[in-house]
Amino acid sequence: MSRELPAKDHAALMDLVYRRQRYVYDLTRKYYLFGRDRLIRELALKPGERLVEVGCGTARNLVRIARLYPDAELFGLDASQEMLKSAAESLARAGLSDRVRLVHGYAENLSPALFGEERPFDRAAFSYSLSMIPDWRRALVAAGSALSKTGSIHVVDFGDLTGLGRVGASCLRGWLSLFHVEPRVEILHGVERQTAGNSADGAALWVSPARYAFLWKCSKVEAEAFALTDVADR
Ligand SMILES: C[S@@+](CC[C@H](N)C(=O)[O-])C[C@H]1O[C@@H](n2cnc3c(N)ncnc32)[C@H](O)[C@@H]1O
Repeated sequence: MSRELPAKDHAALMDLVYRRQRYVYDLTRKYYLFGRDRLIRELALKPGERLVEVGCGTARNLVRIARLYPDAELFGLDASQEMLKSAAESLARAGLSDRVRLVHGYAENLSPALFGEERPFDRAAFSYSLSMIPDWRRALVAAGSALSKTGSIHVVDFGDLTGLGRVGASCLRGWLSLFHVEPRVEILHGVERQTAGNSADGAALWVSPARYAFLWKCSKVEAEAFALTDVADR
C-alpha cells in the first residue's frame, strides 16, 4: 500500500467540484444517491456511541443521524473546505452545531487525533465517498484503526450499474466522471465473493435493484483485511 499522502491537489479538486455544486447538492442528490437513509437506519447507534462520517459533504446525513440518535456523539471529516462551509451552515440551521464536530482532512489520514480526541470511534460511515477517495484501501485501513475493538464500518456507494444495461451504465459512468466519481466495482465484487452473494435483509451486503447501489457493513478487522487483500476485479 502506498505510504504517500494524498496530494494537496485532491482537496483543491474537491473544492473546484463543489464550490458551486454545494448550493444545489442536497436538492439534486436526493434523486440519485440512493440508500443513504437505509444506512442511517441500520446504524442502530446506542446512547454515547461515537460515529464519524468520512466525506461528510453538506452534513445531510449527519443532521439526520443527530435527529435519529439524539445521544450519539458525531464527527464529520471532509477534504473540501467548500463542502464544510455548507455542512456548518446546515448544522447551524438545524440547531445542531454543538452536537457535531467537523474537521477538514483526508479520509486516508483519519484518526481520532484529527478531532483532538483520544477515544476511538464506534462507527465510521462512508456515504458515496469511497467512490471519490483516491486511495480507498488506505481510507478503510485508517477507519479500521480509528475504531474501537467492537467498531464497525458502514458503506453506501454506487454499484456496478449492470442492471441499467450497457448504454445506461456507460452514460451514467460518463456523467459521474465529470464529478470525479468512480464506482468502486472492485469493492462490490470483492465483498460479493466473500459473502457468497448473500444480500438478504440484515446481511453484511445489500445490493439495490439494477445493481445501482450497495450497502456494506463490516467489523474493523474485516475492513482492514479486505483493504489489504487483493480484491481487484479479474
Ligand atoms: C458525493 S459526496 C458525499 C457527501 C455525503 N457523504 C453524502 O452522502 O451526501 C463525497 C464527499 O467526499 C469528500 N471527499 C472526497 N475525497 C475525500 C478524501 N480523500 N478525504 C475526505 N473526504 C473526501 C468530497 O469532498 C465530498 O464532500
